[in-house]
Amino acid sequence: MRKLFSPFPLKKLVLKNRVVMPPVHIAGYNVEEGILTDKHWLHYTGIAKGGAGLIIMEATAVAPYGRLSYHQLALWDDSSQDAFQRLAAECHKYGAKVFIQLFHCGFLSSISDPEADRFSPSVYKTRYRGIEITGRPMRLEDIKDVCRAFAEASLRAQKYGFDGVELHFAHSYLISQFLSPLVNKRDDEYGGSRENRVRFPAELIKSVRELVEDDFIVGVRMGSNENTLRDSLYYARIFEQAGVDFVHVSAGFNNDLPPDLAYPADSKLSWIAYSAGMFKKELKIPVIAVNKITTPELAGYVIDNGFADLVSLARAQLVDPDWCHKAQNHQKINYCLGCKSGCKWFKDPSKCPAKFLNVRKQTG
Ligand SMILES: Cc1cc2nc3c(=O)[nH]c(=O)nc-3n(C[C@H](O)[C@H](O)[C@H](O)COP(=O)(O)O)c2cc1C
Repeated sequence: MRKLFSPFPLKKLVLKNRVVMPPVHIAGYNVEEGILTDKHWLHYTGIAKGGAGLIIMEATAVAPYGRLSYHQLALWDDSSQDAFQRLAAECHKYGAKVFIQLFHCGFLSSISDPEADRFSPSVYKTRYRGIEITGRPMRLEDIKDVCRAFAEASLRAQKYGFDGVELHFAHSYLISQFLSPLVNKRDDEYGGSRENRVRFPAELIKSVRELVEDDFIVGVRMGSNENTLRDSLYYARIFEQAGVDFVHVSAGFNNDLPPDLAYPADSKLSWIAYSAGMFKKELKIPVIAVNKITTPELAGYVIDNGFADLVSLARAQLVDPDWCHKAQNHQKINYCLGCKSGCKWFKDPSKCPAKFLNVRKQTG
């Protein structure tokens, strides 16, 4: 487990340990007009104080029509420049490096707005949160616009003092929609074969790389089950060639177990965390594992057994922002209870039972 708390070099950047706070968007923070709130300040500085080596800030929209809801952070203009700059600088004071996740949600765009322009690789009709939605096929100029939007947002992040960006290619959002044959039924050079499906994501990476400095970190979050594990590994190799500096392995468009993953039934890890090990074998760039990694022992196991170079803990650090310091100093950690009804942090952190227990413990 000692390796978990040893420094890790990422190009010229040195992370003080291998613990990552992955992106977590909390709708209950009620962002207005894409601008950071005081709650974000407390949230992110709390995690930085708690000792995480790397914080990847939440899904942040690169275009107004790319938001899932109106309560998301924005990097399509400089409205939040001052707040972002101050926040990145404050987290740096505690020795954390800070990236920001950039995203476009494609046909899930502005879900509450019936008039929203919903981008999709090809016509796609579905129901989401009880609403009928139809994605319209992106034109070639839309593809170019989105590449430019990601590149310009990355440049802003660099200008504001962030150490890097994570491009969100997972979780059923726009890029995941392009990678998935379930959604991408295009008959031009951006659809059909997997070589074509990966073309737009690879062009997007190159657009970002062209605009930012070489030392600025650019990574992707992607699914290990984007159709199949084999397809996902193929995509990851293309992303590596296109110039990304790390891969953060999560779930893709379809959250089911990948049919071609030889996942041992007695594994200590979830299939998502376990599959990071497949990427580790395939790639030269660093790999981040995530999902249900909660204890210092399990986090250490992931690193020591070569499943990944870095470990992300989301709910564990939401519940106990001091997770890292406590783990390092063998102190008692307050653990996530893994609510079966869904994580309360999505909408209202005050309803988290584990957090409530923690507060009770601290106050009395
Ligand atoms: C409240 C909440 C918000 C999340 N927001 C994001 C997000 O903005 N971007 C993203 O890629 N994943 C998001 N996730 C997924 C987490 O980054 C992480 O992959 C997931 O919680 C599994 O890790 P864990 O078991 O350590 O919690 C979110 C998860 C939670 C619980």
